[in-house]
Amino acid sequence: MNKQINVILSCLGIIGIIACGGNEDKKKESNSSTTANQPAASTEAAMLDFKSDGSKGVGPVSAIEHKPFDAQLANKGLELFVSKCAMCHDFERTLVGPSLDGVVKRRTAEWIMNMMLDPATMLEKDADAIALSKGFSSPMISLGLQQEEARAILEYLRERNSAAK
Ligand code: HEC
Repeated sequence: MNKQINVILSCLGIIGIIACGGNEDKKKESNSSTTANQPAASTEAAMLDFKSDGSKGVGPVSAIEHKPFDAQLANKGLELFVSKCAMCHDFERTLVGPSLDGVVKRRTAEWIMNMMLDPATMLEKDADAIALSKGFSSPMISLGLQQEEARAILEYLRERNSAAK
């Protein structure tokens, strides 16, 4: 009987206590107020209408219809905003681009749509976009949005800009 049983017990009894050094008091950055998930303003009547006087910018959109607030459209816009815009825009501070706080009060709906749909043309031909760009080192890029997608984002900006602080 040549049965040999080799029992190799290795690494027995090694108890690794891995201390993660967790006691550094890392300052918690107050990241709680990110762009998404802002509660809607309490009533639809409280929603801002779009600004209609002023420059409409240069680009494919020359007129938008002023309609009552559309919550479903704004939700679609929120999703698009998070995936396409939030890396450069917040509502509280400057990131790569300016804070979009109150933007629907300072720009017409058409201007904002043109900026979303064709930023290169705006940055070349629109005096306000050119002036704004002086404060930023890298320009807004084209996100390849369809017009309905830009309209949905506009509705989200309307909602977000209307929300009580
Ligand atoms: C790569 C970064 C970047 C992305 C992505 C981006 N932007 Fe911008 N955006 C900028 C910068 C920078 C400016 C300032 C003008 C300039 O220098 O190009 C700007 C300007 C604007 C303005 C004018 C703001 C004002 O105060 O008048 C609006 C509106 C805007 N962006 C909306 C959007 C929306 C909506 C999206 C998503 C569809 C978006 N941007 C995506 C960088 C970006």
